[in-house]
Amino acid sequence: MPAAEHKRAVIFDTDIGIDDAMALLFLHYAPTIEIVGITTRFGNASVENTTNNALAVAEKFSISAAVYKGAAGPLGNRLGEGFPTHVHGENGMGNIELGKPSLQAESIDAAHAIVNLCKQHESLSIVAVGGLTNIAAALALDASIAQQLDDVVIMGGAFGYSGHRGNVSPVAEANIASDPLAADIVFSSEIQTSVVGLDVTHEVVFGKDFIQELAARAGEAGRFIREATDYYLNFYHSLSGEYQCPLHDSCAVAFLLRPDLFTTVQQPVRVVSEGIAIGQTIHSNDIRRYVSEEWDGIPKSNVCTAVDAAGVLDLYQSTLALAGE
Ligand code: RIB
Ligand code: CA
Repeated sequence: MPAAEHKRAVIFDTDIGIDDAMALLFLHYAPTIEIVGITTRFGNASVENTTNNALAVAEKFSISAAVYKGAAGPLGNRLGEGFPTHVHGENGMGNIELGKPSLQAESIDAAHAIVNLCKQHESLSIVAVGGLTNIAAALALDASIAQQLDDVVIMGGAFGYSGHRGNVSPVAEANIASDPLAADIVFSSEIQTSVVGLDVTHEVVFGKDFIQELAARAGEAGRFIREATDYYLNFYHSLSGEYQCPLHDSCAVAFLLRPDLFTTVQQPVRVVSEGIAIGQTIHSNDIRRYVSEEWDGIPKSNVCTAVDAAGVLDLYQSTLALAGE
């Protein structure tokens, strides 16, 4: 049987900034994956910029998946406003010159594209590395996508494992805080979700040596990542005094490819959608019998609690090395 028949169909749902681009290239060069659509949303930059970034990266690296523009804003309240230009630059890609791609976004939007792609593929996963607005909107269009999708692997949230808490408030992670209501809709739906939060992404950190190795091994992809991550490394240096960045979004791709690198618990997840803890992700616990009924009847998610960080970094390097061959 030809190798292509074994490939796993995946939608990449993204607010594509620097670490999202690293994750997109990870998915693209993974031999077992076929990217069947790229859906964009606001987040690291405006949806106009993230869509341009997706098109530019797709064009530069001959990623054949169509790009669908998605949400320009959240379904409900969000924490904060504007875009994190101090982390991802004005264009969301560390201010590197991307130019205007000749590729164009499709005429249908991301939510409709998700619904259509679910119908076209017998087996389909989503790797969601921005907030969950597009997926919640797709569920509103057609709730049966919950049964049609195999799973959604989400980079988002923070549950407090290994001492890791929020990155945009003491309890909230940026993707979930950008649309807490959408996240709560997705976690409360029948979709099989896996949550790759700060609990594990803050354990998987890379520095300049990792980037130099990529630049040496991964051809044009490695050189692109070196250029784009310069701004990102400088931001993290301003926070901690060290050139060390979490490999956030690529951890969701790693979970899809090698779930054995992660430890998980299976629990229902809810998201706080207002007040001082807006954006906080909270999972339930079987041990207790709670007075609150808010987690009753919510399907269980796989929540990542620990990770083989060296294994994820090795998997990233060895997969990207295929780009240099
Ligand atoms: O909190 C980390 C997440 O926020 C990542 O997906 C990053 O790209 C930003 O969107
Ligand atoms: Ca992201």
